Amino acid sequence: MKVLVVGSGGREHAIAWKIAKSPLVEKLYCAPGNGGTRLVAENVAVSDTDIAGLAGFAARERIDLTVVGPEIPLSLGIVDEFERRRLRIFGPSQKAAELEASKVFAKQFMARHKIPTGRFRITEFPEEALAILRSDEFGFPVVVKADGLAAGKGVIICESLAEAEQAVGSIMIDRQFGDAGRKVLIEEFLRGKEVSFIIISDGTKALPLVTTMDHKTVFDSDKGPNTGGMGTISPSPFLTPGLFDEVMRTIIRPTIARMDEEGRTYKGTLYAGLMLTSEGPKVLEYNCRFGDPETQPQMLRLESDLVDILISAIEGNVRIEEVRWNAGASACVILASGGYPGPYEKGKVITGLEDVMGIPGITVFHAGTKYENGQYLTSGGRVLGVCGTGATIADARKTIYDAVGLIRFDGMHYRRDIGTARMGA
Ligand code: AMP
Ligand code: GLY
Repeated sequence: MKVLVVGSGGREHAIAWKIAKSPLVEKLYCAPGNGGTRLVAENVAVSDTDIAGLAGFAARERIDLTVVGPEIPLSLGIVDEFERRRLRIFGPSQKAAELEASKVFAKQFMARHKIPTGRFRITEFPEEALAILRSDEFGFPVVVKADGLAAGKGVIICESLAEAEQAVGSIMIDRQFGDAGRKVLIEEFLRGKEVSFIIISDGTKALPLVTTMDHKTVFDSDKGPNTGGMGTISPSPFLTPGLFDEVMRTIIRPTIARMDEEGRTYKGTLYAGLMLTSEGPKVLEYNCRFGDPETQPQMLRLESDLVDILISAIEGNVRIEEVRWNAGASACVILASGGYPGPYEKGKVITGLEDVMGIPGITVFHAGTKYENGQYLTSGGRVLGVCGTGATIADARKTIYDAVGLIRFDGMHYRRDIGTARMGA
């Protein structure tokens, strides 16, 4: 089989790494890929948003399966286009991907079907947004969100009325996130532990992946601005078996069933970002794709053949009971460029990668890297994900931080507290 992975992050390196192990696969491509994907796949110079270019490549090369990493091609309708051309592809259709592409759609969907989520108001008028905030309906902190895709940046947690007014101004009037700011959501601030709950759906059934916990803020102890994710652990220490069942029963299964009933059958990966509140798990947001960096520790724990799982999901026949996971633990620590998540420099030489390659239990997934003249250079904000496995998260954590100590690039920074979260903390 010939397989194409679309995207260029750490998530895509992890997916490609796992697919490359499948006995079903003869040839693997990654478009556009990164410095790490070239070790397991052939990188193809087609952008992950060039839908016509990707479909043309898949048709020409007779690709048997395409797997899409990021949300933008999904929201642009890559799945609809491939299906129209009878090319097999894993991911939700454009109509199904609206769960992530429009926060307004997602919130109204949850409200319509009584899927647990925080209280909210939606408006397209700045004056109305300000009136809602001034009425103190939600208290403070309050969350102000742009409606559309804003690369994880369109969510502003406001501690005061002044901050909330500023957030409305930058989203709706200055249009800092472009058209995503045509509508805003004003949301109740939810307290609790966050969990990334990720499943693969075949349209009616949901295969839960092993649970993970992301670390969103840039600095230790959850300080500093939010990022795409600075590290992950699997399993999540906070999701007890009872809560897991509650999430499946009150959130995941109803989401898949109601999407199908609404004519938006959801086939692909569904990522529910949850807050475990004192009133039970509530949805913060849906993503229509695998997580980054949640996928990295998940792929390290997946023992079954990923290609087999993805094809069975496409065919509407995912065999949940057959999927095997490693019973231990895994984690991922992101090494980021100096300045990230703000502006950062690129093109820094990365050293030490060959020293960590041979360490038992360690796998390095590249994100913002490129390979040039025999060297790896930084090319993005999140540069590398140093990942490891162990019997426990504490074991994985130790192995990973020993390896991190060997890698260097100018400006490199990372969190030192990945894997220290404890139940009850
Ligand atoms: P989102 O893209 O909607 O998941 O928001 C990004 C991050 O903002 C989430 O992962 C949470 O850490 C935080 N967040 C979003 N909505 C809320 C909320 N209603 N209450 C508390 N934190 C939130
Ligand atoms: N790590 C958060 C995300 O993938 O959206």
